[in-house]
Order: sequence, then structure tokens, then C-alpha cells
Amino acid sequence: MSKNSSSRRSFLKSSSLAAAAVALNGSTSIAQSKQADAYIDIMPSEPIATISDEIYGHFIEHLGGVIYDGVWVGEGSKIANVNGVRKSFIDMMREVQAPVLRWPGGCFADSYDWHDGIGPRAKRPARAAFWHQQDSNQYGLHEFMHTCKAIGAKPYLAANLRTEPARDFYEEIEYCNAPSGDIPSHSAAPAMPNALATQRATNGDKEPFNVDLWGVGNESWGCGGNMTPEEYAAEFRRYTAWTPSYDKEKLRFVAVGPNGDDIDWTTRLFKALYGNPEGRNLWGLSIHYYTSGSAKKFADGDALKFNDEDYYDLLTRGGLMDKVITDHWTAMTNAAPSMMSKGQPSVKLVVDEWGAWYGKGTELAPEYNLSQQSTMRDALLTGITLDIFQRHADKVGAAAVAQSINCIHSLMLAQGDKFCVTPTYHVFKMYLPHRGAQSVRAAFTAPAIPNPLGTTPAQVGGASYIGQLPPIKTLAGLSGSASIKGKTLTLTVVNPHLTDAMTTEIAVRGASVTAAKGTVLAEKDVHAHNDFANPDVVKPSAVSGLTPAGGKLMHTFPPASVTSLEITLA
Ligand code: AHR
Repeated sequence: MSKNSSSRRSFLKSSSLAAAAVALNGSTSIAQSKQADAYIDIMPSEPIATISDEIYGHFIEHLGGVIYDGVWVGEGSKIANVNGVRKSFIDMMREVQAPVLRWPGGCFADSYDWHDGIGPRAKRPARAAFWHQQDSNQYGLHEFMHTCKAIGAKPYLAANLRTEPARDFYEEIEYCNAPSGDIPSHSAAPAMPNALATQRATNGDKEPFNVDLWGVGNESWGCGGNMTPEEYAAEFRRYTAWTPSYDKEKLRFVAVGPNGDDIDWTTRLFKALYGNPEGRNLWGLSIHYYTSGSAKKFADGDALKFNDEDYYDLLTRGGLMDKVITDHWTAMTNAAPSMMSKGQPSVKLVVDEWGAWYGKGTELAPEYNLSQQSTMRDALLTGITLDIFQRHADKVGAAAVAQSINCIHSLMLAQGDKFCVTPTYHVFKMYLPHRGAQSVRAAFTAPAIPNPLGTTPAQVGGASYIGQLPPIKTLAGLSGSASIKGKTLTLTVVNPHLTDAMTTEIAVRGASVTAAKGTVLAEKDVHAHNDFANPDVVKPSAVSGLTPAGGKLMHTFPPASVTSLEITLA
């Protein structure tokens, strides 16, 4: 590593911690003790919101090796499977308690006919599919629902808006949700079974799937139809103006949101959506923000070969997720005052595609399109991103990492009978205690790290949005989030310094720290990763030496680490 420890130390000493506090969090820190490099000041009296389980969501698409062979290996496979679904995929998704699973795309969704994936598998048609592939349709709606059930995840369906009429959308809802048996007509006519529920039962599932979360199209500004926000708003209104409801759970519609930080899209979309006074039935706004592996080009750079500058720059641009969230929250607020409720937008943000996206070079094989390796650098990006979601628990209602297996920012890699988890998987597991807890404000005070590539405008979207932000000159020297459940406080912390441990004083306002335990993911070399031959190179370990004193905790966060602490309060 080019940054040497002693120069970093002297930088720390010469920096103003108070100034860093203002720069990073807009707040001041606790009384600062001399031996600490950094401070974390947690404020239980400043609750943000309950952290939704659904921010730890997942995404699988018919793309490269995601469905075939990451998820679906087939019932006759020698690879251990549960009704055709790779058993290790199910096991690992259960380990991270995947709350929600998005399917079938992505761009694939807007050319997919859900009818092709139901009925006897032998009779299903093979068809040309997005991503220059042919899809055998062996994995369809029922297989997906069984996958969700085996995992314990809620299904999140992305509906086709580009190539199917509104009728297919509401009939998909009907097929999924109409109860079995006689259904009251709510008219003078007698009750009778619903035809689509009967078809579903014939196809193997008598009981309804009860899908409440529906994406209405995907990236309609790009692969989903190259629409303007006004054109998409008109389509969204038409598709959602009437849909069948079976009173199980209220349907939650998610509208296509911006590419990265394209505020113009959100502003115009909300003006157009709420320009008509009829109810919008809109639960969420989808956001896709990928961190490119290159400062200069989208979906570029190497997942494994990077230098210190690339490392700091990627994490800096990853931190832009914070700005993307607040920018779009503000844009919705300003554009559609009529949807405000108690001073806040009534629509949640759904970050249903996020992750670090690299160029070619580390894919499992050419046919595993968009598969890539994942290193400790990606683990840190995962920690930074989940912490941002947790800090914005009042705004982010759901999210989905792109994608769970064999694609972009994966938690798992699989090829035939070979399988391993990535460092990102471990971070998802380490963040579990935050679920359902109350997110509270925490001020992190640490000198910022200069971004060596902070002279290049930051890319804030994919190929079809060329928006750029001014260069970002610094990366938070320590970042994280805190949440409370009863007397237990969960604190997750990312130390991005390549060589410097950060000795940190942790204090909780109005409470005393009585005990603490924790887990850490740290590697001397941030290029460290797991692969099929060496699946356990990167794995978490228990944190030792957590001894509170005087109601506070002093802890040294190792360089390039993600830490999860469970702190008992009195
Ligand atoms: O996740 C890969 C692709 O990225 C998705 O299909 C699309 O929605 C996005 O552009």
C-alpha cells in the first residue's frame, strides 16, 4: 500500500477533529479524549425511524448465470437442490434472512411474458430474451414462489410495462393472489371459483401467493422503453388505475425512479403523476445507483486489480448513495406537495439495484454475463451502503442488492457444483441485528481521507444517464450507523483507511455502556477474496478486548474493516 502508516498518523494529528465532525455529519462531537483518533457519539434521544427488514433485500434476474445455474439447477441435477433450486443458494439466503426477493429483472422483466413460465415444464417455450440469451422458461412464476417460500422471503415482482398490455399486469396479480374456492361476486351473481386461481391450482399451487410488492416496469428511461418521465407517468397511471384486490395485504406499487442522481426524472415524474388529482396508489419510488469500478466510465475497472487510489475513489463514490437518497427525497417533496403526510413524503424510496459494477475480466466464464469477483473493497462498500440505508430509515422502505448470485455485487458465486460466498455475504450477516430496531442519530468524528482521484467528476448513473457531480474530494475517515432495541444498541462501523487502525471513543448520551461484544471483517490486503478453491479466505472473527470503562467504550477499528458491535446499555 502506498500510504504509509506514519504519514497517516501525522495527518490525523494535524487535522482538526472538530472540523471533520462538521464536514462529515453536520454535528459536534462529545468531549474529546486525547488518546482517541476518532469519536462516535450516539444519541438515543434522537430517533430516526424503525429500520425496515426490507432494506436488506435481494434481486435475481434471468441474466448470465444468475437463474441458470446460480439458482436453478433442475430437479434431476447431481447438485444438491430443493425442487430444482440450488440448496446452497437457499441455505445462504436463509442465513442472511433475506426478507424480500426481486424477480424476474431488471431489463429482462420488460420483455418477459409470465405465461411462458407456467404450466408443465416440458411444454414451456424457449424464447429469445434480453441480455442476448435464449430462455428455456424452466424457471418461472411457481419456481420463483417456491424459492421465496423455501428462503422465507417475500416475493417482489417486476411487471412488464414495455411489451405487455395492462391486462397482463392485472391478470398476473389475479393469478398470484385470487383465493382458491368460491369467491363472492359482490353482486347479485352467485359466488364461483376464479378462472386464474383454478389455472394456478392446476399448475400446482392451490393456495394464493399473496404478492403485495409490485414494480411497475423497470428502468423505463432506458431498457424499459426509453420513455420520458411524463410518458412513464401516464403509463404508470393507466396500469395501476385498477387492479384486483383480495384484501389480504394492500398492494404496494413501486414506480420506476431515476438512474443514479437524475433529479430531473424524479421531479418531472412526480409533477406528472400528481398532476391528476385521482389517487396514485403509489407506495415506493425505485432508485438504481451503481458504483462504477472506474471513476471515468460506467461499469468499468477491474474487480481484482486496483491500486490505493482506485480503492479510495470507489468507496468515496459509493458514499454518494447518501446524496442520491436525500436528493430524491427532496425532489419528491418539492414536486408533489399533495402527497405529503405529516410533513414527509408518503412515498418510500426503494433502492432496488445497488452495488459496485466492474468491467470484464473476472467473470466465471463468458456465458456468466456480468459475473465478477468481490473483494474486501466490496465488503466495505456494502457496509457503507447498508449504514446509509439505516441512517435514512425514515426514507428508505426497501432495497435490493444487485444481484444475489453470479452477477455484479453478489453474495454468492456458483458454477456447476462449485460454490462460495463473497465478503459481501458476511457483511449482510453482520448487519442482521439492526433489523426492526430504532435507528438513532450517531455523530462520527474522524478526519476525512482525501480522495486521490477527487479531481474527476463523479459518474452518478449508468450508460443512459450522463449526469455528473462535481469531483468529491474526501471520504469519511470512519462511518457507520446505530440502532436500539430495548437495552441493546447495535453499532456498525466502517474504517476505510488502508493502513491505519482508528482508536475510537464510543459514548451513548444519557446511557452507560455496561458490556459489548462484536464481529469484525478485516483483511491486511483489500484485494482479499474468496473463490472456489479458497472459499474461506475472507471471513469474520469475534472482536476481543471490549471492556467498557466509565460508561464508555474505547475500541480500535482495524484498517480496511467492517465491524458490528452489540452494546448493552444501562
Ligand atoms: O442488474 C443488471 C441490470 O442493471 C438490470 O437488468 C438493469 O435494471 C440495470 O441496468
